[in-house]
Amino acid sequence: MEVIICPNAQRVGEVAARKAARIAAPIGSKVVLGVATGSSPVQTFAELARLVASGDLDLSEASAFALDEYVGIPEGHPESYHEVIRQTVTEPMGLDPARVHVPNGFADDLQAACQAYEDAIKAVGGVDIQFLGVGTNGHIGFNEPTSSLSSRTRIKTLAAKTLEDNARFFASIDDVPRHCLTQGLGTIMDARNVILVATGANKAHAIAQVIEGPITAMYPGSVLQLHPHATIVVDEEAAAELTLIDYYKATYANLPEWQRLDV
Ligand code: GLP
Repeated sequence: MEVIICPNAQRVGEVAARKAARIAAPIGSKVVLGVATGSSPVQTFAELARLVASGDLDLSEASAFALDEYVGIPEGHPESYHEVIRQTVTEPMGLDPARVHVPNGFADDLQAACQAYEDAIKAVGGVDIQFLGVGTNGHIGFNEPTSSLSSRTRIKTLAAKTLEDNARFFASIDDVPRHCLTQGLGTIMDARNVILVATGANKAHAIAQVIEGPITAMYPGSVLQLHPHATIVVDEEAAAELTLIDYYKATYANLPEWQRLDV
């Protein structure tokens, strides 16, 4: 894993976006993005939109696949991930809405919707760059603790910790949907590159487990230790419980100029 520790959240977004732009350059305008919801990648997406606006990144024919969606919330609902992705990804990056996909949590047949989602990802040749946040319990997407490390897109029940964490987006915790559709850990691991961003002290424990803990379904993000091209970009607060902080900093400080991602 490549671990990059940044002084603040703003820099996390800039570095993650530059990493993505560097990966995307040789792929070209048809790059396939995997996009996450939540507050973590918001700055990264804003920076990507800036790179598009300045002409440094071409997403004119790009596709995007969201990680997950709540079950039972209609598309236009302000907290539906369809709506969040429209506001944070599709519009600011100028993507063609027809190429932006979110699992259909309002489908009559949810299992068929999950299979259709897997098929749609395959049909475009797979995800080139998967952006991820991480839950305080170590989940990625909505792959809650004890998720199969080889799982595919499916229906999941949200963990109590996730209901609590996501209650801030709803009127009350009782309004948070209990179920979701989420890409599986196996689906996420199929992406050719992954970039996980995390900021703030409340992510420090999960980040330490994901990067330095054992690979375990109890911290689903730890499966990324098996990914050949995983980059984790964190601020100082989210890095606080890592034991090898000095090593990660020295590694980044000693990168040759052309590999650095500083603004
Ligand atoms: C959400 C999403 C995840 C996200 C995580 C962290 O519920 N399903 O994809 O990474 O929880 O959210 P945040 O970035 O707001 O802390």
